[in-house]
Amino acid sequence: MEYIIEMKNVTKHFKNKIAVNDMNFTVKKGEIFGFLGPSGSGKTTTIKMLTGTYKPSKGSLNVLDFKGTTIGSKNFMSKVGILSDHSTVYERQTIEDNLNLFAKLNHIATEKVTEVLKFVDLTNDRKTVYKKLSAGMKQRVLLAKALLHEPDLLFLDEPTASLDPATIQHIHKGLKALNKKGTTIFLTTHNMQEANDLCDRVAIIDSGILKALDTPENFRFKYSNHTLRVIHNNNLEKTLPMTAESAQYITNMLETNDLKYIASDLPTLGDVFLKITGKELI
Ligand SMILES: Nc1ncnc2c1ncn2[C@@H]1O[C@H](COP(=O)(O)OP(=O)(O)OP(=O)(O)O)[C@@H](O)[C@H]1O
Ligand SMILES: [Mg+2]
Repeated sequence: MEYIIEMKNVTKHFKNKIAVNDMNFTVKKGEIFGFLGPSGSGKTTTIKMLTGTYKPSKGSLNVLDFKGTTIGSKNFMSKVGILSDHSTVYERQTIEDNLNLFAKLNHIATEKVTEVLKFVDLTNDRKTVYKKLSAGMKQRVLLAKALLHEPDLLFLDEPTASLDPATIQHIHKGLKALNKKGTTIFLTTHNMQEANDLCDRVAIIDSGILKALDTPENFRFKYSNHTLRVIHNNNLEKTLPMTAESAQYITNMLETNDLKYIASDLPTLGDVFLKITGKELI
């Protein structure tokens, strides 16, 4: 098993505030790994430790075989892409000029700019000044910048917060395509739908503690009541256990043309979060 990230017994405190508490997890090469937790749960602090902005107060990290103070070094940064609310660009320059400048500074071929512009679907807007862009377009420019040097590992801190559903879908599609081409992605979100749609595995975080870690499917099956919900034509609703009797009951409904609706009771990741932490996500 090849791990890209390994976090062992990591704690981070700021004076007497514990932001991350004895955290352990590994991320495999090729995964989209999600960190799902409410505001203040320690998501950004974790990304900042994994990218070298903060040093852990306790414990050890291994990211792409970089350890200790080498995390965050120039060599490390050449293999890593980061999208966060601290990502910066020149507000008064066009999208294209911003990306060209960044490419030049990092010795990246200018053809790569054309390629990433296409990837984030901003080719037609490339001559627009950054500050005139919508929030979704700005986010796509920052993503393009994070992708220019073809990182092996991409960190995304709430990549779609405050974007509209169509833009979110567009970004998700792009991230999936990027992941297929081999980029491992670590993302934080408090959007359970995003974690569900995008991630191979999801860590549920609360108050700096990693409460549970699994695939979205396993989480939802594990916390399912294993029942089915049926609605009769007269709107009578019934919850049925998954038994042979229920199968017969449903067959009867079908035969008498009396099945208005049927659904499984699979919980959402948000329901799972509530069951695990006793708290709502937002
Ligand atoms: N530089 C800092 N100094 C002091 N406390 C900090 C610092 N950075 C984070 N914290 C505290 O650590 C805790 C975790 O913060 P963090 O930013 O990691 O949360 P988050 O999960 O990213 O939240 P959000 O969803 O709002 O971005 C919070 O209580 C926060 O106030
Ligand atoms: Mg944050």
